[in-house]
Amino acid sequence: MNILVLGGAGYIGSHAVHQLMDKGYEVVVIDNFQTGHRDALHPKARFYEGDIRSREFMRSVFEKEKIDGILHFAANSLVGESMTEPLKYFDNNVYGTQIVLEMMRDFGVKHIVFSSTAAVYGGQEVMPITEEAIAKPTNTYGETKLTMEKMMGWCEHAFDLKYVSLRYFNVAGARQDGKIGEDHHPETHLIPVIMEAALGKRSEITVFGDDYDTTDGTCIRDYIHVEDLIEAHILALDYLQHGGESNIFNLGSNQGFSVKEIIETVKQATGIDIPVKIGERRAGDPSKLIASATKAKHVLGWNPTKTTIEQIIKDAWNWHRHHPNGFQR
Ligand code: UFG
Repeated sequence: MNILVLGGAGYIGSHAVHQLMDKGYEVVVIDNFQTGHRDALHPKARFYEGDIRSREFMRSVFEKEKIDGILHFAANSLVGESMTEPLKYFDNNVYGTQIVLEMMRDFGVKHIVFSSTAAVYGGQEVMPITEEAIAKPTNTYGETKLTMEKMMGWCEHAFDLKYVSLRYFNVAGARQDGKIGEDHHPETHLIPVIMEAALGKRSEITVFGDDYDTTDGTCIRDYIHVEDLIEAHILALDYLQHGGESNIFNLGSNQGFSVKEIIETVKQATGIDIPVKIGERRAGDPSKLIASATKAKHVLGWNPTKTTIEQIIKDAWNWHRHHPNGFQR
């Protein structure tokens, strides 16, 4: 089976490519290196460099390759940035998906597994959050992902596409063999940011607000290991290929950790004392996001195995300490 991975040189996309190849899939990758890295590419995947927003480029790939299913990771995904540059998010995320869906229609590709986000939920009263919760994003990033989900829903009515949307909570960790991991410029995600501080690449870490309505006043998030996350994508592909209906699943762990708890766990894992400063709240941040992942377990048979925060942080640290400059040699 030929699977097209959009954004296959990025953090999550590259893990998907490696795990698909491990399982014997043929993989075609598209990436424009906006945030991806050439060294994250799998040497045996067929690679096309280009932008999903270019109809001509996309058409040329679909003319060459017979695609059986798509994993779509090609999007901007930073909550903070999405609040200051909203149009960048509508352009790359929403318009990019418009072109992907046009290609699916024109070339008769029926199945897509979509990288969505807990950010679609916004602030919710009831934890853990189930897929039935009413989506009300508090940031542009979440709004664009919700729009992309709706686009797929309308296209299903029009030309019988089937989609699985996977709403990720906070993805972290790295491939256990240490070959690939997280490398953003600049880095903004909590766990890699703390690791940069542990490596002396930044002098301190700033906690974005300690006056939230949570146990220690800092935001609570649900962290999931990137390899477990990708297993769910492969199960979702399988589900669609076996006639599964379009569906939405949360991917998380049913447990939450505060920013302060994460900092403490990283300090313990690295043995390094990291200076911490309390700063202002970051615009768009909901105070608490914890997933109910029961549906993915029941319907997809998802069985995450790297579920402790210690394991996630250990694998992240293994990548960061061996690649202090990321993929840069
Ligand atoms: N944080 C800090 N200091 C930092 C970085 C982060 O205090 O230097 C805090 C944030 O304010 C937030 C928490 O740590 O409360 C986690 O922040 P991240 O930036 O690591 O992650 P987000 O929760 O903002 O967003 C991530 C992904 C999104 C996804 C979301 C779902 O980037 O794509 O998780 O929960 F939608």
